[in-house]
Amino acid sequence: MTIVVTAATGHLGRLALAELLRKGVPANEIVAGGRSLEKLQEFADSGVRVQVVDYDRPETLKAAFEGADRVLFISGGEVGRRIPQHKNVIDAAKAANVELIAYTGFANIDRTTAKLASEHLATEAALKASGLPVVLLRHGWYLENYTEQIPGYLERGAVAGAAGSGRISAATRADFAAADVEALLSSKGGEVFEMGGDESFTLSELAAEVSSQTGKEVSYLDLPTDDFRAALESAGLPAPFADVLADCDRAIRDGEFVVDTGDLSRLLNRPTTSLAEAIKAAL
Ligand SMILES: NC(=O)c1ccc[n+]([C@@H]2O[C@H](COP(=O)([O-])OP(=O)(O)OC[C@H]3O[C@@H](n4cnc5c(N)ncnc54)[C@H](OP(=O)(O)O)[C@@H]3O)[C@@H](O)[C@H]2O)c1
Repeated sequence: MTIVVTAATGHLGRLALAELLRKGVPANEIVAGGRSLEKLQEFADSGVRVQVVDYDRPETLKAAFEGADRVLFISGGEVGRRIPQHKNVIDAAKAANVELIAYTGFANIDRTTAKLASEHLATEAALKASGLPVVLLRHGWYLENYTEQIPGYLERGAVAGAAGSGRISAATRADFAAADVEALLSSKGGEVFEMGGDESFTLSELAAEVSSQTGKEVSYLDLPTDDFRAALESAGLPAPFADVLADCDRAIRDGEFVVDTGDLSRLLNRPTTSLAEAIKAAL
């Protein structure tokens, strides 16, 4: 069995590699794929095979997928460029006739209007058209999208957003990665997992939890979508990314980030990590 993990140098990819090893997959049956051999060196040191995998360079994909049985295809990080990049990945997996491709997509893709979902929708369509056995690992929002901002929340005394009282079924990357690996190893192809945290929360509840755990006053500042987009831009985000993120808050406000399937905890065979636990760990 040869398992390739793409984008292995990212946060999710690292966690997935660690989970594969924890589950007893032999290191020499795992290929860690990433753009930079330098970044991959630490995996090579642990006995995992490494390959350059660049979604913009089909020749790297061809080489990485040769002899591969299962591929954990982690969506790329370059928003706006991912449709052709992901098409390259799928074409190479098809040419290599892999036994299974597991794609980390976007939760509620069938009903969400979030702009961020469009590249995932196109990727899922390309996967379907490929005829390959596919398992869809549709991820909800990462809890880290918030916990990584705690220092800023404390500095400003505020969580700013445009999500109103919309609820978010976020989960930790570690939970998603563990569930992804479980699905990758057990899938027969054809499954769709809509993954989110067991408990949802609003941004007011997030602010209250940060306050309660730190003893510092943090409140939720709800902004109109346009004002939130402008605030993100003035904080240094490129305009197209600020637009996509502000639009995600609009989708949250409209109830599109609630995932209540229980798929994530079923794959994990335990409850998902809660907001309170994630904040405690981050602090
Ligand atoms: N659900 C959510 O809340 C959420 C939030 C953020 C991101 N995401 C999605 O989930 C993915 C994994 O998240 P993460 O936290 O691990 O992100 P991350 O830490 O930013 O890692 C992104 C990974 O994608 C790789 N990558 C980017 N462009 C690539 C390309 N052209 N070819 C090959 N690899 C490429 C990066 O490689 P390098 O190391 O070479 O840069 C890195 O390994 C992200 O890429 C994004 O699609 C989801």
